[in-house]
Amino acid sequence: MALLFLDSADLDEIREAASWGVVDGVTTNPTLMMRAGTADLKANTLEIVRIVQGPVSAEVVSTDAEGMIEEAREILSWSEHVFVKIPCTVEGLKAMREISSWPNGRINATLIFSPAQAYLAAKAGATYASVFVGRMDDAGLEGMAVVRQTRDIFDNYGFSCSLLAASIRHTGHVVDALLAGADIITVPFKVLRTMIRSPFTDVGLERFLADWKKVAG
Ligand code: G3P
Repeated sequence: MALLFLDSADLDEIREAASWGVVDGVTTNPTLMMRAGTADLKANTLEIVRIVQGPVSAEVVSTDAEGMIEEAREILSWSEHVFVKIPCTVEGLKAMREISSWPNGRINATLIFSPAQAYLAAKAGATYASVFVGRMDDAGLEGMAVVRQTRDIFDNYGFSCSLLAASIRHTGHVVDALLAGADIITVPFKVLRTMIRSPFTDVGLERFLADWKKVAG
């Protein structure tokens, strides 16, 4: 089963999406926190955990391994549902290697733009590898190719790291990520809303109800 996460730090949006019953977890990042208008990472993350009762990713802001490890120790202590997001850099790899040796070392390796980076993150012990599909498409690259190649690499060698398709821009990305075998897809709320919508469903429902009225009064 592919898991569906919401890519948001906005509590209203998360509450609404969670009420639909199809959201398994949430990913946040410093930009999403800024858009949600809060700098209280702990309070916001814990409220999200309370709402979704599933995996919630919170990102470090240090750029050196030591600082990332220190932040990760704090972030991971908040709840068993919390994952720490670590950027896929050299310092990030060092931090991932250390954090993955902890009993609670749940890591979401973020800002991945190539299969080679995903491979290194998996080797360093990341639990999730987040491939940023939309940002590659924005730059004229084919983001989904990185998802497909990473899937093959993880399968070839039996990596247990979950492949997470992130930076999703539209429903087509969701379908392609599912076809490419992503384990998790994280979508902004506006994409989730588009996924359920079809004018054919609306027209079809309208007709069913009108016909039922004719026969049942
Ligand atoms: O949360 C990580 C990723 O999904 C961000 O996406 O829209 O900023 O490219 P975006």
